[in-house]
Amino acid sequence: MSAKRQFRIWRGDETGGDLQDYMVEVNEGEVVLDVIHRLQATDAPDLACRWNCKAGKCGSCSMEINGKPRLGCMTRMSTFGDEETVTVTPLRTFPVIRDLVTDVSFNYEKARETPAFAPPADVAPGDYRMQQVDVERSQEFRKCIECFLCQTVCHVIRDHDENKQAFSGPRYFIRAAELDMHPLDTRTDRKEYAQAEQGLGFCNITKCCTEVCPEHIKITDNGIIPMKERVVDRRYDPLVWLGSKIFRRGETPQTSVTTARQGSPTPGSARGGLHSHAGGSHDSQAEAQAQSGVNWHREVPHPTAPAVDDRGKLPLTELTFDRAAAPSPFGDDVTFPLPPEHLNFAHPDQDNKH
Ligand code: SF4
Ligand code: SF4
Ligand code: FES
Repeated sequence: MSAKRQFRIWRGDETGGDLQDYMVEVNEGEVVLDVIHRLQATDAPDLACRWNCKAGKCGSCSMEINGKPRLGCMTRMSTFGDEETVTVTPLRTFPVIRDLVTDVSFNYEKARETPAFAPPADVAPGDYRMQQVDVERSQEFRKCIECFLCQTVCHVIRDHDENKQAFSGPRYFIRAAELDMHPLDTRTDRKEYAQAEQGLGFCNITKCCTEVCPEHIKITDNGIIPMKERVVDRRYDPLVWLGSKIFRRGETPQTSVTTARQGSPTPGSARGGLHSHAGGSHDSQAEAQAQSGVNWHREVPHPTAPAVDDRGKLPLTELTFDRAAAPSPFGDDVTFPLPPEHLNFAHPDQDNKH
């Protein structure tokens, strides 16, 4: 069964553009990407759209459909009412190249800045052993298809380009969490790195990233909140703090998250003080390549300090609060993804309706 449906698609490039209307045939069982392909074959042969697998696995076809970041290939047309106009716009957080294609290189830059997996030096590849429970914990985060829907929805950078320098975004918070929970990763500074370099403190756990993730990764509950709790433990638990100050021989060189702001390190100098992007490869050429293109000396704002009283002490309520962050605005008994009627995304057409 086929019918004509109303589509509004953003057309333009970095100099500007607008929404254009199309009436297009839609057949039973089709997804939004099918309809875009039909438009390319009929009314709009020059419509630019990125896609690869059409199976929800490559993460290329990310777009905003009726205001919600989604995969075009996984959004069935039956999601919408028969009379509903389907509005498709490019990811709002990233610069437009043309039509629905955006420049997502911000994400790759953040990926390169994140120190890679660092296995123990005295265990040969092939001899790594870990328990199934640890495999399962990080496996959830490994399901990420890098669609960057969580990145585009995050309000910290969605309308605030100025925050991009200091904020890596939810996709890289779960990368840090995955490595922090990995029993064979020898870096112990993942938490410090997340707080000081990735801007973990900017996240106020709105859970929008979890809401849009097509892999249903519980980004906030299983990644961000545990990391925030570990940061609090490390910073405010005197025993943990003392332990972290005791020098241990044979320790893996850690990321110099604090020295970076004090004028060192210099790329190419004493390797022990630098981020290692090549991680466990021990390949000096790969290391040098990974370091080029990263701005080592960028200025980043300090994370917001917790509220203190007149004497500079944390109020008792901060210390006894049983969670590191604010309560979820959704309540604690909500499961994700939320049903469409509970979403809080603005439809691009909403202003025209009033
Ligand atoms: S939970 Fe944090 S990272 Fe996720 S969208 Fe909200 S502010 Fe961004
Ligand atoms: S965490 Fe989910 S939403 Fe974010 S990039 Fe990975 S798959 Fe996409
Ligand atoms: S085309 Fe690959 S995820 Fe949609």
